[in-house]
Amino acid sequence: MHQHLHRVSLVIVISIICGVLRATNGDYLIGVGSFDVTGPAAGVKMMGYANMDQSTAGIHFRIRARTFVVAESSQGPRFAFVNLDAGMASQLVTIKVLEKLKSRFGDLYTEENVAISGIDTHAGPGGYLQYLVYSITSLGFVHQSFDAIVNAIELSIVQAHNNLKPGSIFINKGVENARINRSPSAYLLNPAEERARYPNNVDTQMTLLKFFDGASKKSIGAFSWYATHGTSMSRNNKLISGDNKGAAARFFEDWFTSNTNSSSTPVTNSSNRSNISTLVEKAKAIKATGGKPCGNLTSQGFKVRKNNGSLFVGAFCQSNVGDVTPNVLGAFCIDGGKPCDFNRSSCHGNDQLCMGRGPGYPDEILSTQIIGGRQYQKAVDLFISATEELTGKIDYRHVYLNFTDIEVELDGNNVVKTCPAALGPGFAAGTTDGPGAFGFQQGDTKIYKLWRKLRDLLKEPTHYQVQCQKPKTVLLDTGEMFVPYASAPAILPIQMLRLGKLIILSVPGEFTTMAGRRLREAVKETLISNGNGEFNNNTEVIIAGLTNTYSQYVATFEEFEQQRYEAASTLYGPHTLSAYIQEFKKLAETMAKGEKIMKGPSPPDLFKAQLSLLPDPFGDSPPPGTNFGDMKQDIIVPKNGTFTKGDKASATFWSANPRYDLLTEGTFAVVAVLQGQHWTPVYDDDDDFSLFFKWKADDSYLYSMATIEW
Ligand SMILES: *[C@@H]1O[C@H](CO)[C@@H](O)[C@H](O)[C@H]1NC(C)=O
Ligand SMILES: *[C@@H]1O[C@H](CO)[C@@H](O)[C@H](O)[C@H]1NC(C)=O
Ligand SMILES: *[C@@H]1O[C@H](CO)[C@@H](O)[C@H](O)[C@H]1NC(C)=O
Ligand SMILES: *[C@@H]1O[C@H](CO)[C@@H](O)[C@H](O)[C@H]1NC(C)=O
Ligand SMILES: *[C@@H]1O[C@H](CO)[C@@H](O)[C@H](O)[C@H]1NC(C)=O
Ligand SMILES: *[C@@H]1O[C@H](CO)[C@@H](O)[C@H](O)[C@H]1NC(C)=O
Ligand SMILES: *[C@@H]1O[C@H](CO)[C@@H](O)[C@H](O)[C@H]1NC(C)=O
Ligand SMILES: *[C@@H]1O[C@H](CO)[C@@H](O)[C@H](O)[C@H]1NC(C)=O
Ligand SMILES: *[C@@H]1O[C@H](CO)[C@@H](O)[C@H](O)[C@H]1NC(C)=O
Ligand SMILES: *[C@@H]1O[C@H](CO)[C@@H](O)[C@H](O)[C@H]1NC(C)=O
Repeated sequence: MHQHLHRVSLVIVISIICGVLRATNGDYLIGVGSFDVTGPAAGVKMMGYANMDQSTAGIHFRIRARTFVVAESSQGPRFAFVNLDAGMASQLVTIKVLEKLKSRFGDLYTEENVAISGIDTHAGPGGYLQYLVYSITSLGFVHQSFDAIVNAIELSIVQAHNNLKPGSIFINKGVENARINRSPSAYLLNPAEERARYPNNVDTQMTLLKFFDGASKKSIGAFSWYATHGTSMSRNNKLISGDNKGAAARFFEDWFTSNTNSSSTPVTNSSNRSNISTLVEKAKAIKATGGKPCGNLTSQGFKVRKNNGSLFVGAFCQSNVGDVTPNVLGAFCIDGGKPCDFNRSSCHGNDQLCMGRGPGYPDEILSTQIIGGRQYQKAVDLFISATEELTGKIDYRHVYLNFTDIEVELDGNNVVKTCPAALGPGFAAGTTDGPGAFGFQQGDTKIYKLWRKLRDLLKEPTHYQVQCQKPKTVLLDTGEMFVPYASAPAILPIQMLRLGKLIILSVPGEFTTMAGRRLREAVKETLISNGNGEFNNNTEVIIAGLTNTYSQYVATFEEFEQQRYEAASTLYGPHTLSAYIQEFKKLAETMAKGEKIMKGPSPPDLFKAQLSLLPDPFGDSPPPGTNFGDMKQDIIVPKNGTFTKGDKASATFWSANPRYDLLTEGTFAVVAVLQGQHWTPVYDDDDDFSLFFKWKADDSYLYSMATIEW
C-alpha cells in the first residue's frame, strides 16, 4: 500500500516536471470486451412493463454486454464492470456467470470484484430472473433468454480479460438534460433545506471514464454513468432494443470508429446513408435450423460485425434512476391533453389515461434516438475534453445482507427495522412511462375487498408485516410468499468498487434521485473521516444502478409517505434506504481503513426450482411450394424503383422462427446495394438504427414471416 502511494506521488512529480501526461506508461492494466446478448426475438414476453401483450416480434438493434476490466498489475487487485443491455441484473445470472468465471480463472473474478449492471431497457426478452414475481409475466423462466445473457456476460469478461494491456484512464464529468422527475410530488416531501441544496429534482451529472491503450496511444473505450430510465420505447413496442442507453452506445461506438478511420461513415444520423437512389434490396430473412439458411452471409462477403479489427467499447451505464424519466415533455391525459393529476398521475381517477411523452412524441423510435443522442453527444464532449488522469488504488468491498430484518440505528439511538419484502397498490398503478392495468392509482393506500381477498388467497400478510410496512398497504406480500419458490429476494448484495478517486456503489435496485444523493454523501463522508487523508472532497462517488441482482426501488423515508410507484415498490419498508446507508457506511469504513468485511449469507440458487410455461417455437418449414427467403410481399419495393430521402422500403419473406437460432453476433437481415456487379451491405439488424427486422406468424399460426423495413 505504501509502496504504491510513493509510486503515485513520484509519477505526479514527473508529470509536473515534464509537463505532459504519461499516456504511454500507464498506471493500470485495462481491457475491454463486448458480446451480443440478444435473446429470443419472437414470442417471448419483454421485461420491464409487466405487459402480458408485449412479446418480442423482431429486432430494432441488437443488444450487448460491454465490459471493462482494470487491474493494478497482473497479480494486483482488479475488478470487472459489466454494462448489460437488459432490464436489470439477475441474481441467478450473476451466480451462473461467477461459476463459469471460476472454472476459467479460479479466484481471479468473484462476487466481490465483478459488477453486472443492467441499463434498464424495457425492450429485452424476459424470463431470466429467479424470483417468481419477476417471471410471472414472462410465463416463467425462459432458458433461451437466460443462456444468452449468461453467455454474453461471460464472453465479454473473457474478452476484456484477454485484452488486458497497460494503459491509462481519464475521468470527466458534465451536465446533461435527458430526463425529468416522474414523481415530483414525492420529491417535494423531502425536507425543504435538503432540496434547497440542489438546483434540480433530478441528478444532471454524467461521469465518464476514458480508457487509453498505453502502447498504441489509442482509446479503447469509454464508460459513462447517468440516470435516466430506459422507457423511451413504450409498453407497446415489440422490437428488441437497447432503448436510449443502448442507442447511445451504438452512436458512440460508430462515432469513434468513423472518426478514427475516415474510410467508414457515421451512422448516428442515417439520413446521409439512405441516399441510395436505386435501391435494390437483397435482404434475407434467415432460416436457422433444419435446413440451410437462405445464404451464408460470410461467404457472400457480408460483414457480420463491423470493426472487429480494433475493438472500441462505448457503454452507457445506469445510475440512481428511480424517479427519473426520459419522457421529458411531461405526462398528459390522452383524453384531452391536459396535464395529469399532480399527486397521483392519473386523469379523472384513471391511471391508464395519463402517459408521459418523449421528445419525439408520438414517435418512440425518434424519442429513443433523441434521448440516446443527447447522452451520446455529452459523452463525446466529455471524451474529447477529458484531461484528468486517474491514479491510485484499485479496491473493492462486497457483502450480502438479509434485508428481511436489518436493525437500523437512526439518530438519537432510535432503532428501527426493515421488513420482509412487500408491494403496495401504487406498484400496480405503474407509472406515467407505463401505467398498470388493475385500476389502482399511484399514492393509493386503500385496497378494496375483492383485492384483499385475492391477496389473502396468495398470502395473508402477518400482523407484524402490516405494521412494519406502514404507511404502505400490503397488496402483495412477496417477502412471505415461498410457493412454488421465493417471490422476492431477501438476500441482497451491496458492493463498492474503487478506481483511484472514483468510487462506484453497486446497488441492486433503482434508487430515487434523493435516495441516491443521501447514499453518495454518506459514503463520501465516511471515506473522508476514516481515510487518513486518502480521500477528500475530490473523491467522486457514483451509483451503478440495477447491479448484481434486482430488488425494485428505493425511495427516501419521506417519499415513502406518499406511496407513489417508487415508494410502493420499495420492498423492505420505510427504512429501506436508511438500512442501505448504514450498511454501505460499513463498507466505506472498512475500505478506508484497509480492513476486511464479513461475507454475509449467500443468496439461494433457485435454478432447479424454475418453472417454464413458454411453448416451443413453431414454423420450422415454409408453406408448401415456397422456400425460406421467398418474398411474401414485394409491393413496396418495385424493381428498379427509385426512392428519395425519408421514404421507407419494406419487404416480407417466409422465414423460420428466430427462436431456432439467435444468430448471436450475426444478423437476421441485411440490406445490400448493387454497385456494378457487387452487392455491398449497407444495413443490418445488428446496429443500424434505420433498419427494422420484424417477425410475425401468418394467419394460420403455422408459418413465420419476416419483414424488413429500412
Ligand atoms: C481503416 O481503414 C483502412 C483503409 O480503408 C482499412 O483497411 C481498415 O480496416 C480500417 N480499420 C478499421 C478499424 O475500420
Ligand atoms: C439528421 O440529419 C438531418 C440533416 O443532416 C437533420 O435534418 C435531421 O434532423 C437529423 N435527424 C435527427 C433525428 O437528428
Ligand atoms: C452528411 O455528410 C456530409 C458530407 O460528408 C457531412 O458534412 C454531414 O455532417 C453529414 N450529416 C450528417 C447528419 O451526418
Ligand atoms: C444523392 O446521391 C446522388 C448520386 O450520388 C447525388 O447526385 C445527390 O446529390 C445525392 N443527394 C443528396 C440529397 O445528398
Ligand atoms: C460461411 O462461409 C464461410 C466462408 O466461405 C465459411 O468459412 C463458413 O464456414 C460458412 N458458414 C456456414 C454456416 O456455412
Ligand atoms: C474480423 O474477424 C475475422 C474473423 O476472426 C477476421 O477474419 C477478419 O480479418 C477480421 N477483420 C478485421 C478488419 O480485422
Ligand atoms: C398534493 O398532495 C399534497 C399533500 O397531500 C397537498 O398538500 C397538495 O395540495 C396536493 N397537490 C395537488 C396539486 O393536488
Ligand atoms: C432472512 O432472514 C429471515 C428473518 O430472520 C429468515 O427467516 C430468512 O430465512 C432469511 N432468508 C434467507 C434466504 O436466509
Ligand atoms: C469540501 O467542499 C465543501 C463544499 O464545497 C466545503 O464546504 C468544505 O470545506 C470542503 N472540505 C474540504 C476538506 O476541503
Ligand atoms: C432494371 O434496370 C436494368 C438496368 O438499367 C434493366 O436491364 C432492367 O431491364 C430493369 N428491370 C426492370 C424490371 O425494369
